[in-house]
Amino acid sequence: MLKLNDVNITFNKGTVNERKALCEMNLHINKGDFVTVIGSNGAGKSTLMNAVCGSYEVDSGHILLAGKDVTRLREHQRAKYIGRLFQDPLKGTAPNMTIEENLGLAYGRGKKRTLAFGISKRDINVFREKLASLGLGLEDRMKTPVGLLSGGQRQALTLMMATIVTPSLLLLDEHTAALDPKTAGKVLEITNRIVKENNITTLMITHNIQNALEYGNRTLVLSQGKLLMDIEGERRENMTTEDLMKLYADSTDDVMSDKMILKS
Ligand SMILES: Nc1ncnc2c1ncn2[C@@H]1O[C@H](COP(=O)(O)OP(=O)(O)O)[C@@H](O)[C@H]1O
Ligand SMILES: [Mg+2]
Repeated sequence: MLKLNDVNITFNKGTVNERKALCEMNLHINKGDFVTVIGSNGAGKSTLMNAVCGSYEVDSGHILLAGKDVTRLREHQRAKYIGRLFQDPLKGTAPNMTIEENLGLAYGRGKKRTLAFGISKRDINVFREKLASLGLGLEDRMKTPVGLLSGGQRQALTLMMATIVTPSLLLLDEHTAALDPKTAGKVLEITNRIVKENNITTLMITHNIQNALEYGNRTLVLSQGKLLMDIEGERRENMTTEDLMKLYADSTDDVMSDKMILKS
């Protein structure tokens, strides 16, 4: 489904600030995989996602999405296959537009239709039903500008927008890190349900090791631009947070940040 073959990205090449952010990265993600990604600060997690969605150009190597080589495709050309969420709830929605209008835009993506065609009654019913399933009461606030929503409500809405037309690939970059623990938990549960119900191939970066093992079917550990571990199957099922932390400490001199050890 997603393949990275020998992908390299180096920043500030030839300067004192030269930094290899991705180093000979080889990765094969299967269709329907829900992959969690962890690693210390600067390990290359966000760079990996930026490379996949085309925000960063690779220096060398190839990226294949659904069998198609997308390495040289521009970001907007890949956007119709890829849904993406960031840490910042302010990204991904238009604050002055209502919930309904934001969903209308997302729903129209990939179809020969824009907001100018209006949102049909049928669409509104679809939106209402989907919003109700979030359990945040947003179905009664469809005419509310998105800028008035809380961070958690906005992330849940952004997630719905990213998946209302099922993407080939969903990229989540610490999308719950800016939320309080309770809200983060709720958004994670919603994420898990949407991903599973629609069988969406997903990469989810998290700073929380416990969440990394709890959600999804596979965990990647990145360190210094390299894939340090790729854990799945029975080995993963039996792995505790402590096991993973010990493995990590034994295999790299990278320091695990306090954030990663937090259990909330
Ligand atoms: N646009 C950029 N310009 C220069 N250096 C960058 C850029 N993006 C990331 N880096 C560097 O690449 C390395 C990996 O960064 P990143 O992928 O953001 O790490 P992570 O998401 O794992 O914390 C870091 O050293 C970071 O400073
Ligand atoms: Mg990052």
